[in-house]
Amino acid sequence: RIAGPCGIVLFGITGDLAKRKILPALYDLANRGLLPPSFSIIGVARRHIENIEEVVKDCIQSGAKTAVTDTTLNQLLSGFSMVEGQFDDADTYERLGQRMEDTDQSRGTGSNYAFYLSIPPELFPTVLGGIGGAGLQSGPRGSWRRVVIEKPFGHDLASAQELDQVVTGVFDPDSVFRIDHYLGKETVQNVLALRFANEIYESVWNANHVDHVQITMAEDIGIGSRAGYYDGIGSARDVIQNHLLQLLALTAMEEPNSFSADALRAEKEKILDATSFYGPVGESAVRAQYEAGWQGGQWVKAYREEDGIPQDSITDTYAALRLGIHTRRWEGVPFYLRAGKRMGRRVSEIAVVFKYPPFLPFESTAGMGHNTLVIRVQPQEGITFKVGSKVPGSSMRLRDVTMDFAYGHAFTEYAPEAYERLILDVLLGDPPLFPRQKEIETSWKLLDQAEEYWEAHPETLDTYRPGTWGPACADKMLARDGNEWRRP
Ligand code: BG6
Repeated sequence: RIAGPCGIVLFGITGDLAKRKILPALYDLANRGLLPPSFSIIGVARRHIENIEEVVKDCIQSGAKTAVTDTTLNQLLSGFSMVEGQFDDADTYERLGQRMEDTDQSRGTGSNYAFYLSIPPELFPTVLGGIGGAGLQSGPRGSWRRVVIEKPFGHDLASAQELDQVVTGVFDPDSVFRIDHYLGKETVQNVLALRFANEIYESVWNANHVDHVQITMAEDIGIGSRAGYYDGIGSARDVIQNHLLQLLALTAMEEPNSFSADALRAEKEKILDATSFYGPVGESAVRAQYEAGWQGGQWVKAYREEDGIPQDSITDTYAALRLGIHTRRWEGVPFYLRAGKRMGRRVSEIAVVFKYPPFLPFESTAGMGHNTLVIRVQPQEGITFKVGSKVPGSSMRLRDVTMDFAYGHAFTEYAPEAYERLILDVLLGDPPLFPRQKEIETSWKLLDQAEEYWEAHPETLDTYRPGTWGPACADKMLARDGNEWRRP
């Protein structure tokens, strides 16, 4: 799968995401021969940036996954140019349109362009208005134009709907690619392979055998320099509404008829639609904020002391939800989702915890817990299965052991970064890994209930110490069901 003639128009080229992810991913794609020789990058920026080519080179050098060679770097930079101008000035888009034409003439992009809006969401209406005003959303007959937007897609249901109207007011819905980068991760796509390519899971993947499911996205980092974005958003809106609910959908959905975008998205939509809080919202949605403390031998600041965060901020840096899915397959099985910054360690995983056997005719089973299948999204990507086994010796004592599959051992193939995979799919016009608006709205509908509850009950904001596995309120939420969070 190699992209045909095309180019990318990158708004926000000096932003954090472009520097850390998008530009290195473009380089890696070029280096692996997946971009056409004509591939061109047109950066759009509000101000002049000295030595922009050096800036681009630097971020490729520090972010690329493949070896950085002068040949690929020069090839990529030979198709690189900048357009400078205010985003609210029609002239910027006139000049951009001219540059797109010129680039097509000089490099042969076929006038096929993806507009990548790597900018704060509040600028989306202005930039989309500019693109639409200059008629850049469609090219000459036979060419394509697409737009890529990054989460957050709004901050609640109403704003997500407004945003969608703005985007689809300019671009045809099939040309809109919404990036949730978790869907670009190899380990996340493998959830579908694991479930639907292997016979052994399907018959136990239901409420008869599954006790509960835990989906975790723990990060050891704090909010870094992202105070402006993060405060007022918080962990539930930042990652549960999108990444974690997508993981839930992949774990719980029915098998699609095919892996076409429509079939896959329809199954995800169905399962999200059937998902609600497991019990009253007040008992099924908790959140907390990190205090100051020691983490990995280092003293770290409290969230409220971070640069740019108001001292009375009530933004969550940890959130956990207890959800249920009302389908024949899942009725009665709690799905616990949690996400937090400054936690014990960086780990994202899906743990499917099976029921305990009804009867065990063994001398001792004290060392045996629930059979648990853990899909480790990152790091140390892989899958482990925890099962009971006889401890060697003369008695029938059982203890848990794990069967491990590690990507690093099983595969020698290159594993593309999420952004590489997703950007290539945009250029190929291949939409299965991009959520549709309906999924986004359904996820917001659910999360809005938690956010509304939290807003009405600010006193329920808990705290937790850095380097721990989160607040007491989250432990209590599981204890009510007789369960405990995993300590991965
Ligand atoms: C982003 C969130 O979507 O995902 C960040 O906005 C978070 O807050 C990041 O740090 C984590 O991504 P990954 O791929 O490192 O798990």
